[in-house]
Amino acid sequence: MTNPLPAWSALQTHYEQIRNDKLRDWFAPANDPAPTRAERFTYSGGGLAADFSKNRITDATLKLLVQLAHEAGVEQRRDAMFAGEIVNPTEGRAALHTALRATEPNAPFHAQIVAEKAKMAKFADAVRSGAWTGYTGKRIRHIVNIGIGGSDLGPKMVVHALQHLESPEISSHFVSNVDGADLWRTIEHIDPEETLAIIVSKTFTTLETMTNARSMRDWFVKHGCPESALAKHFVGVSANPAEVVKFGIAEENVFEMWDWVGGRYSLWSAVGLSIMIAIGPQQFDELLAGAHDMDEHFRTAPLDKNLPVLLGMIGVWYRNFFGSQSYLVAPYSEALHYLPSYLQQLEMESNGKQARLDGQFVDYATSAITWGEPGTNGQHAFFQMLHQGTTIVPIDFIAVLTPEHPLADHHPKLLANCFAQSEALMLGRTEEEARKIAGPDKPELVPHIMFPGNRPTTTLLVDALTARSLGALIALYEHKVLVQASVWDINPFDQWGVELGKILGKVVEADLTASTGDVKAHDSSTSALIAKARAALKR
Ligand code: F6P
Repeated sequence: MTNPLPAWSALQTHYEQIRNDKLRDWFAPANDPAPTRAERFTYSGGGLAADFSKNRITDATLKLLVQLAHEAGVEQRRDAMFAGEIVNPTEGRAALHTALRATEPNAPFHAQIVAEKAKMAKFADAVRSGAWTGYTGKRIRHIVNIGIGGSDLGPKMVVHALQHLESPEISSHFVSNVDGADLWRTIEHIDPEETLAIIVSKTFTTLETMTNARSMRDWFVKHGCPESALAKHFVGVSANPAEVVKFGIAEENVFEMWDWVGGRYSLWSAVGLSIMIAIGPQQFDELLAGAHDMDEHFRTAPLDKNLPVLLGMIGVWYRNFFGSQSYLVAPYSEALHYLPSYLQQLEMESNGKQARLDGQFVDYATSAITWGEPGTNGQHAFFQMLHQGTTIVPIDFIAVLTPEHPLADHHPKLLANCFAQSEALMLGRTEEEARKIAGPDKPELVPHIMFPGNRPTTTLLVDALTARSLGALIALYEHKVLVQASVWDINPFDQWGVELGKILGKVVEADLTASTGDVKAHDSSTSALIAKARAALKR
């Protein structure tokens, strides 16, 4: 069984026809005299622009990919998601992250969402103005967001990206790992009297978050904060408010998210409280507005001019027809440092699945491995492999046209590198060109300085890194994931694949920390590892 859709087999035939064609030939004046290729394959939406022209696509490819999206029911899946239907059937839930940024009063759960946002804004304003103080009356200067996965990666990514909009009075910290080093390195140098902890967990049962939250509480108490004053230093965000209160957080300091918001889609909800404290309620609204711009574009633009559809379908093209294992996100922006790790969860936790919606197993590839690093750093690390390695890795370059810092003379250098990389990856260097460079004295150098070229890239252009453009960029990728999930016929909103490790983790922890008893209920490798660690922990 392969994907039974007619456009899928048409794409297979089309792939055979163009697989040896060269991008440099498609761009050559002989084939594109006007030239029009860049223009024909550049699209915009939600305030962003995407140049797809350096991809291994022709007009016919895009037509077939759009047909595949249509046959796969992308429009129906999209509309069902926006309407709040149960699009996550294995958990019996809707996925309404789009409602969190909707402005229309008839949008699902609108009144509830507006009320929670008002509560967040009141709190954020109090912290930002200094009206909210710690137990000794000092203003809050440190926010420590304790959460993991979707309760960490989104807020951390956004706060870092929008640091230029951050209140100078407040430093934001993010602690996720159960490795005590993460929490310790954060709290070691800050004053508990000036610190507010935000415990973020949709379930409020996550091992890492609960362990860090308890250690944080102990830290406050150890430094003199009376138990009765802990409410000044702790707030919780969860879809399980009863557990938050049980943990000891005052009821009025609990912010709600809902089970119809997936963890990795949740930064728009109260999970983004750390974002709102950092940049203020007004800028938080701008972030939502940018995402809403992209939602509207995704909802209304025809499929063949729809950025999330085109980005997603070009990803399918490489994954399922070229057989690419991975794709790279290279933001040429230090501010977007954490975007690749955020996208890793968004893409791989959403689409790293083998079971289709009907319960059958797929026999085609699903999620590519997502990885990345800001440019230009990546150029001095792994770009060698991208240019001359044996694997083709499609790339999304992200270029921000105006800098968000005052060191303006750096910016042309940054952008030049971004554009030059995509040009070099596309053009490559032929044997003839390499011979000219090597000269008659060094013919042995020729194979080493040849570049295959024809390596596909997309360049996303962002005018300036504002809360609004960032919101649109994130929503672009959220919707891209839905487009791909539709083609692969999988559920992008559950994450059963993380469960087995969690269950076994508890068993191993019990064995590790038991003071007596043989370790033998595991395979010989795991048992030996546990025995060694148990001995070390006793030292
Ligand atoms: O283990 C994976 C996961 O469930 C993610 O989907 C989620 O974002 C993360 O853990 C944190 O979950 P919670 O917000 O419930 O603590």
